[in-house]
Amino acid sequence: LPEIALTTQIISRLKKRFGNQIGVYHSKFNQNERIEIWQRVLNNEYRIILGARSSLFLPFNDLGLIVIDEEHEKTFKQSDPAPRFHARDSAIILAHYYQESEIQEVADYIGDSLGLSQKAAETDADLIVFAGVHFMAETAKMLSPNKKVVLPDLKAGCSLADSCPPALFAKFKEKYPNHVVVSYINCTAELKTLTDICCTSTNAVQIIESIPKDQPIIFAPDKNLGAYLIKKTGRDMVLWNGACMVHEIFSLEKITKLQSRHPNAKLIAHPECEAKILEIADYIGSTSGLLKYTKENPATEFIVVTEAGIIHQMQKSSPEKTFIPAPPDNNCACNECPHMRLNTMEKLYLCMKYELPEIILSDYVIEKGKASIERMMEVSLKAGLI
Ligand code: 13P
Ligand code: SF4
Repeated sequence: LPEIALTTQIISRLKKRFGNQIGVYHSKFNQNERIEIWQRVLNNEYRIILGARSSLFLPFNDLGLIVIDEEHEKTFKQSDPAPRFHARDSAIILAHYYQESEIQEVADYIGDSLGLSQKAAETDADLIVFAGVHFMAETAKMLSPNKKVVLPDLKAGCSLADSCPPALFAKFKEKYPNHVVVSYINCTAELKTLTDICCTSTNAVQIIESIPKDQPIIFAPDKNLGAYLIKKTGRDMVLWNGACMVHEIFSLEKITKLQSRHPNAKLIAHPECEAKILEIADYIGSTSGLLKYTKENPATEFIVVTEAGIIHQMQKSSPEKTFIPAPPDNNCACNECPHMRLNTMEKLYLCMKYELPEIILSDYVIEKGKASIERMMEVSLKAGLI
């Protein structure tokens, strides 16, 4: 069904015509109630969902969608209680800021790589549903090895992690025997076993500065973040030649054109971007850093040079401000990570229902790789970042 503006009469006619096949989706619904709706959709009990635009999403392609306005939503009640979705009481959904907005809406915690690692380490839940990419779920498993960690789509990888195959890196490392290895957390669990200390974009400067000045460093896998850190800390580091396919393709030309159309907009960028973009940025930071900046800065317009998913939280925190996604060097107007976006609401639902696919790591990888993340957590704690 197309979106239609509904009057009370149309709603009552629809109810008469479709009876129990109509589900009502309220913006006030908690997670269990939302899951209950999906359960009914999956069981083919509901063919049509009524809901206000602000709360509606459509995870199932063959479902009718009717958008009602907020006033009409108030007049609806969820009739006859549906069977509860028997999710474990102790499951937690962790979502990265680059997930689609619907997933962010149902998550228990939304954060950047550091925040998500911290949550994964401290949660009491015995099932961690990780709405992010593979290396993030692996990190959660390393930090909480006794918990079950599931990822909605196992193919949700990361070009940056893939750009540093552990076997090649081990050979590279042999050439620099006295070096300490700092790896950006966006790397495989196996690479973490070859790493002395991990970092994220939130704590990278503090991690580098925690290493004695006369100690040479290899930084992997992101050459752009590495170059930014060299500039910021004044430390000379050996860089692995990896990059993120999303942050690497922002178009300087299109961004400068955008700036001339929005002269008062602040340009904010993630440090995974190339130096030519970072040079013109008003602020450089991790996803949580960028979000914080948009909340605290009095500017009302921002050009956001990172994955467009973060704009959902920016818009929610500052509804009066305008956020313009920076365009990449292709035909798209904004830049979405194809790996992150493999996770969908439907896959998330199925993953919670069947507790699959699960992240499995060998004891060796967990023990050896975990040390590099734990060291990172210690420095972050001392620096007051967590
Ligand atoms: P942060 O959320 O830690 O800034 O990381 C960005 C990123 O690219 C994750 O894949
Ligand atoms: Fe990896 Fe880049 Fe996607 Fe982040 S945005 S998951 S670094 S490919």
